[in-house]
Amino acid sequence: MCGIVGFTGAQAAAPLLLEGLKRLEYRGYDSAGIAVMGGGIRVEKVSGKVEKLCEKTGDGALVPGSTGIGHTRWATHGAPTDLNAHPHLSNDGRFAVVHNGIIENYAALREELTAKGYSFISETDTEVIVHLLEMYDSGDLKATVMKTVARLEGSYALGVLCADAPDTLFAVREASPLILGVGVGENYFASDVTALVSYTKNAIYLDDGEFAELTPKGITIYDCSGKRLDKPITRITWDVEAAEKGGYEHFMLKEIMEQPAAVRAAIAPRLKDGEVKLEEFDLSEEELRQFRKIVITACGSAYYAGCAAKYALEALTRIPVEAVLASELRYGDPLIDEHTLLIVISQSGETADTIAAMKECRSRGAKALAIVNVVGSTIAKTADWTLYTWAGPEIAVATTKGYTTQLAVLFLLAMSMGRKLGALTEERYPALLYDILRLPKLIQEAIDLNHGIPALAKKYHDSPSLFFIGRNTDWASALEGALKMKEISYIHAESYAAGELKHGTIALIEEGTPVIAVCCNEALEDKTVSNIVEVKARGARVLAVAFRGDRKIVSQANDVIFIPRINTLFTPVLAVIPMQLLAYCVARENGCDIDKPKNLAKSVTVE
Ligand code: AGP
Repeated sequence: MCGIVGFTGAQAAAPLLLEGLKRLEYRGYDSAGIAVMGGGIRVEKVSGKVEKLCEKTGDGALVPGSTGIGHTRWATHGAPTDLNAHPHLSNDGRFAVVHNGIIENYAALREELTAKGYSFISETDTEVIVHLLEMYDSGDLKATVMKTVARLEGSYALGVLCADAPDTLFAVREASPLILGVGVGENYFASDVTALVSYTKNAIYLDDGEFAELTPKGITIYDCSGKRLDKPITRITWDVEAAEKGGYEHFMLKEIMEQPAAVRAAIAPRLKDGEVKLEEFDLSEEELRQFRKIVITACGSAYYAGCAAKYALEALTRIPVEAVLASELRYGDPLIDEHTLLIVISQSGETADTIAAMKECRSRGAKALAIVNVVGSTIAKTADWTLYTWAGPEIAVATTKGYTTQLAVLFLLAMSMGRKLGALTEERYPALLYDILRLPKLIQEAIDLNHGIPALAKKYHDSPSLFFIGRNTDWASALEGALKMKEISYIHAESYAAGELKHGTIALIEEGTPVIAVCCNEALEDKTVSNIVEVKARGARVLAVAFRGDRKIVSQANDVIFIPRINTLFTPVLAVIPMQLLAYCVARENGCDIDKPKNLAKSVTVE
């Protein structure tokens, strides 16, 4: 969603801000702007892409000054117009603000400020902030910022610029990420480390309720009462190349290809002396026995990772597992208490619904184990335990390596808990361990086996609608396969438990309807084959995902894409690979904006 950058130093600010905004483009946005201090505050903003802002400002050269803030906006309050774009300026032109999040009490504040004579030029919730700054301006910028922030309800990461303090920036965080970049003779802030990493590897993660004052000479951090805080500097471990395309046409393709290495990075440090060892979640058998059920919560693909891993968790721990969408869980009245282990899955660690669901469950006594990719993110910091997926930066909006590394970590978790609880027996363990060790290699094979996918994409790319079916673990894979297809190719794609087809959906099957059938669960293969026969009898074209060499499927399906053989519980991590590639090739065939699909954002930080 929206992105924020800020810079103060000796260099020209505008080119740096524009570069930072380009690095945040992947988050999804519809307008962009910068405000730079140069004999007063100058604001430049456009609806549309950062590229348009670069053209308007001569790549920043037309906006002189060495302190500034920038923003990419994903519209919530008001259409994506030039006027609604950030930064917003106070009526006296002395304050400029960029904002991520939502000011929930903006309507009341707008009424109050209008009555006091402040005039609004945008429809945004954000604009109240600049008028509050002007109203509370006492000449002491820190006090003015604190008074303003005290009036705000909701979620916000703010960047504030004031004409009276030409080399000073304020950065404020409440329920929306904001990271400070520590440089030499210059300092930065951004809503995402991706925007900082080409300038500095030293970062400070602000927590909720904290704010910072940045000048070229240093950074001072305060809590919400204005008391100074000492916060540690975290070293960013990946470099700028990791956030670049490296010769691939799209980030999504690069990230698909990175999956063997990403899954290896997730697994390798957790396998020691032939045992799965999760140091970050090293509970004893007795402590694990406190948990009478496991609830998994997440959104989108992360939820589907939970649906897929539920089978392994249940099979290997023998604890009942339920996967619940975070947006449903947060407003439910869940039967959750101190005997519940809540598993929270999130690539970004900043998804608003997931954070809220975690808070709700923890308030009922549940203990939360987070499975997160982004280091230092809100979910990672607030959970009781965190297992990082170590996938590296994921830039494409459609998750690929984020999803497969979540699965890898969840499988390790199932094995580790199962061993400690004694539910995973001595006899069964070595074969599972062998498959886990081979996962990176098998993912590479799943990629290599599928040279024919571009040709298949030509067959399927003009279908108005696609159906994805499967049973059990295969159904979970089908859910993710359908989501990949719809989010990047904009083709209507639905996933159904194969056995449910005849209870309604089969009415939609007609001559030529494509059905993607995931058939990687050997115990249920005959059942899924029956479903393939049923839909073919009604004219469907069936593309099956099956184990290499599965003759039964080859004889029944119109086309087959293969994956290497693996234990059924772990198949989702391989079955998804050809479906990612298919979605990618179909979207490419249709000329879609693959890395930044319309209407979507990488990190959904508002409800
Ligand atoms: C998946 O391709 C989507 N981008 C989306 O469903 C995503 O998985 C969901 O928004 C959850 O995000 P998170 O993992 O960052 O919490």
